[in-house]
Amino acid sequence: MRIAVCPGSFDPVTYGHLDIVRRGANIFDKVIVAVLTNSKKQPLFTVEERLALLKEVTAELDNVEVDAFAGLLVDYMRQKQAKVLIKGLRAVSDFEYEMQMAAVNQKLDPEVETFFMMTNPRYSYLSSSIVKEIARYAAPVSDLVPPPVEQALKAKFAR
Ligand code: PNS
Repeated sequence: MRIAVCPGSFDPVTYGHLDIVRRGANIFDKVIVAVLTNSKKQPLFTVEERLALLKEVTAELDNVEVDAFAGLLVDYMRQKQAKVLIKGLRAVSDFEYEMQMAAVNQKLDPEVETFFMMTNPRYSYLSSSIVKEIARYAAPVSDLVPPPVEQALKAKFAR
């Protein structure tokens, strides 16, 4: 069975992430969406909130699982017997950092293959940070995130 891991912060999950997960799920037998829990970034949503949103928006994808991980991604992948790492590339600006991460992961575990997909051009400008910035000022994000995420953002920023 070909198991792929799609790692990230998912703070929160966007239509850009979902596009990559969906396309990955069409290619691999199983896709594990893995939320990094010990990131240095200060998140808006707790790990539990991010996992719950991811589960809700991927519920119709039968071969997609949602999980959390801490520490090195390659260690988590070994534990899950996953050999493929799925990443979305939005623009040239993503390339350098992703190339560095792919090289590090390749060095840490030569059996891990990083698999890049170009993000749907519809979402090439999209990021969780942009979504949070827009939602913070109560502008609509319905084209950028699924309805449960939109609701969760509204609740976070409601005062
Ligand atoms: O959504 P993000 O924040 O861009 O995701 C980054 C992530 C989680 C993919 C990356 O930070 C990661 O893999 N962290 C785990 C630690 C690790 O394995 N580091 C070595 C490779 S750089």
